[in-house]
Amino acid sequence: MTVGAVLYSPALRSDTDAMTERIVPLISAEAIQTRVDALGAQISADYAETGSLVVVSVLKGSFLFCADLVRKIDLPLRIDFLAVRSYGEATKSSGIVQIVHDLSRPIEGEDVLLVEDIVDTGLTLAHVIELLKTRRPRSLKLCSLLHKPARTKVEVPIDYLGFTIEDKFVIGYGLDGPREHYRNLPYVGVLAGE
Ligand code: IMP
Ligand code: MG
Repeated sequence: MTVGAVLYSPALRSDTDAMTERIVPLISAEAIQTRVDALGAQISADYAETGSLVVVSVLKGSFLFCADLVRKIDLPLRIDFLAVRSYGEATKSSGIVQIVHDLSRPIEGEDVLLVEDIVDTGLTLAHVIELLKTRRPRSLKLCSLLHKPARTKVEVPIDYLGFTIEDKFVIGYGLDGPREHYRNLPYVGVLAGE
């Protein structure tokens, strides 16, 4: 028996199995790619004088967005990754952010573009930005695919924004979902009933 046949055996399927969940598309793959093209063009123009760029993808949520975005930036750049985990209640401004995977190289004197999947309360990004500023980059800007302004706890300036969305838990296109599934969807959606 193949592995696939075991994974998709009806006998092994629980009530919350992916097969039983319904996803309502919110932002289509085409709309995302159109927006990514525009953001890439804008970033390329804005940094044309700067010459080079360090793109920092905040994992895991931004991995697809960042992969698409960098292919639309027409400049010499290097890519680094930062993985963070938030502790405590997300609604508390004292929420602590732990670095799970740090940048591979210093960013002192560099022009850094942080790439994030979504700015929700803003708490995670506020901490990440404070931390990265202590490393004295020449400049530090933020590009986020999504913004949920209804949930803002800390104002984080977003220099490049894909889409503003309502207060709904969204999944797909790299974003976290139930059991960490659905990151591989090419579009952003909402679970039916959310
Ligand atoms: P914060 O509330 O702005 O600190 O959000 C922290 C992180 O939670 C974001 O960068 C996302 O990775 C994740 N997150 C927030 N809202 C959503 C959502 O609707 N779907 C999936 N992940 C989310
Ligand atoms: Mg994130």
